[in-house]
Amino acid sequence: MTRAFQPLIPAQPTFTDTGLACSDRYDDVYHAASGAVEQAQYVFLQGNGLPERWQGLDQFTIVETGFGLGNNFLTTWHAWRSDPQRSQRLHFVSFEAHPFSAVHLIRMLQDTAPALRDLADQLIAQWPVLVPGIHRLEFEQAAVTLTLFFGDISQATKRMDCKANAFYLDGFAPRVNPEMWTKEVFGQLVRMAAPNATAATWCSAAHVRKALQDSGFVVERHPGFAFKRHMIRAQLRPHLGHSYPAKPKDPVLIVGGGIAGAATAYALAQRGVASVVFDPVFSKGLGGAHQGHAAVALTPLITSDDAPRARLSRAGLWRAWQRWQPFVGSSLHICGTLVANLTADEAKNAESAVEDLGFDTDWVQYRDKRVASQLAQTDLAQGGLYFPKGAYAIPETLLEQLLSHPLITTVNQTVKAVQDLSGRWRLVTDQQESYEAEQVVIANAGAAPSLLKNHLSTQQASRLFDIDLLGGQSAVVGHEALQDSVRGIVAGNGYVIALDDHHYAVGSTYTEPNKGICSAAHDEIMAKVAELTPVTQPVAPALSSWFGQRAALKDHLPMVCQAKPGLWVNVGYGSYGFSWAALAADRISTELCAEPTVLERDLLQSISLR
Ligand SMILES: Cc1cc2nc3c(=O)[nH]c(=O)nc-3n(C[C@H](O)[C@H](O)[C@H](O)COP(=O)(O)OP(=O)(O)OC[C@H]3O[C@@H](n4cnc5c(N)ncnc54)[C@H](O)[C@@H]3O)c2cc1C
Ligand SMILES: C[S@@+](CC[C@H](N)C(=O)[O-])C[C@H]1O[C@@H](n2cnc3c(N)ncnc32)[C@H](O)[C@@H]1O
Repeated sequence: MTRAFQPLIPAQPTFTDTGLACSDRYDDVYHAASGAVEQAQYVFLQGNGLPERWQGLDQFTIVETGFGLGNNFLTTWHAWRSDPQRSQRLHFVSFEAHPFSAVHLIRMLQDTAPALRDLADQLIAQWPVLVPGIHRLEFEQAAVTLTLFFGDISQATKRMDCKANAFYLDGFAPRVNPEMWTKEVFGQLVRMAAPNATAATWCSAAHVRKALQDSGFVVERHPGFAFKRHMIRAQLRPHLGHSYPAKPKDPVLIVGGGIAGAATAYALAQRGVASVVFDPVFSKGLGGAHQGHAAVALTPLITSDDAPRARLSRAGLWRAWQRWQPFVGSSLHICGTLVANLTADEAKNAESAVEDLGFDTDWVQYRDKRVASQLAQTDLAQGGLYFPKGAYAIPETLLEQLLSHPLITTVNQTVKAVQDLSGRWRLVTDQQESYEAEQVVIANAGAAPSLLKNHLSTQQASRLFDIDLLGGQSAVVGHEALQDSVRGIVAGNGYVIALDDHHYAVGSTYTEPNKGICSAAHDEIMAKVAELTPVTQPVAPALSSWFGQRAALKDHLPMVCQAKPGLWVNVGYGSYGFSWAALAADRISTELCAEPTVLERDLLQSISLR
């Protein structure tokens, strides 16, 4: 376990004798006795010049220290939606080391003000599992975003990025909760500040004022809320702060119509940004890249040190689940994944990893042999890891759905060249057509190096230029191929995905890139399946088979980054394309649209140009 990993310790619901929500850990109350909503309005909204300051803007971003019960968020959201002159979008970012579980949040918010009831219910409905890191929630057709960072403020602020217009400083009292009021934390907030950002807090302690001043704010004391004599209002010094980059004006050009390109186009479209996607495979239809591919698993992964791959797969699965909600039930199916056929030692390690990581059981549970066998409806040799939100996608349908968005244009052509026009990019296709734009996304997997070699040096992109291509086969078999009626997804070396009572998607092989479908590969797949569940003999033939390629970087992480201004790379998905695509797409579109990041900065670094 690395020292950086800190398991989340949830808050417990506790109330004072007078019924105020309070914390045993900090021996303090969550809000003033005179009212959470009134405090939020007076201290945080008025203290930051709201609602006036967001009026007429495209977007307004607020960062809060300490989400607690979410009263400040709910009050702000309510004020925003009640204001006819509100900004088009509202982004709210909040840090919380001790979130409540959904069950406890329901209890804590049961007496919320009637005006906030509906909003509180929407918040509860989307409340994330309690695992560390960033969670993005969206409301009002994504006009309101809530980016929750679960983790300790000192680490979390270093890992967050956004352009904040206002700060709500709402830790418990500095006496009991000093880590929320340090110069280091305020310094990180200043790093995230937009020009003219403001900050407000109910606290007026001299050392807090000093820490704010030292970090870059001009600080004033104002009359406090209710019985408090003073509160702080602060203004960022004039020379500090980073402006919002402008949203792309012309359509973004995307090379590649596989899941990387399609998910990126869709994420941009969700934000009102048009795109043009190029791929010769569209001659077979919008889902051409996966024509005939029955199912792919969105594979969760955990490692005992919560390594970047595990964090990415966790964040990716949740992002896919949220971003692709409209397709749940058609091309996306949440059925639970059991990672099985572990050796006795692996099973023991898996069990202790889950315990050490302290993950929410909604995310992962260790299940012993008996329960795991019941879940999978087959007799397993050992226990395994069960991910209740494990899912599979029908890739061809998903691609069709993503690419059918009216803001997406598809072009059935191969991009032959990418040209740098200093500030703009030009794509030239095999039909000798030219397209120009400020922003280009290269999402054509193993073919990316040939388009990028004139723009990036070997030194800058050695890993990218060394991308590996691996072929692979998967199949659909009928129920007669297996002895048991397996349920959900059972994964090990191979995988079985129960599509319905009569069909299973099974996989897969790793071969040279252009091998194509062959019967020996089917036998190899069924041998892998036999490690998970008994297979009938002789091996039943495939009802259909699919052959495809995986493009992987040697460090097994994708590359999702801006390689040069306006030139984005989104490749290297290996065997995890469907787990990573929604997250990668949001990573690109949040930056293009100047939204708070969906990925921690250290994770961004791990998937950067290399
Ligand atoms: C047998 C098998 C089983 C798999 N199972 C799973 C699974 O269960 N779960 C999972 O998450 N992943 C799975 N994968 C991996 C998954 O398929 C990949 O990670 C994913 O498809 C990669 O997506 P991509 O968009 O990066 O690349 P691709 O799907 O390869 O798309 C790239 C596209 O770019 C186009 N292109 C290339 N050059 C150009 C150009 N110059 N101009 C225009 N277009 C161009 C290509 O035609 C192609 O359509 C599996 C892979 C295989 C082979
Ligand atoms: C006063 S409450 C916040 C109330 C909240 N803003 C609301 O509207 O309900 C302070 C919050 O800070 C959180 N907190 C305390 N120490 C923290 C730390 N080191 N890192 C992140 N959050 C912390 C507490 O768990 C608590 O939820």
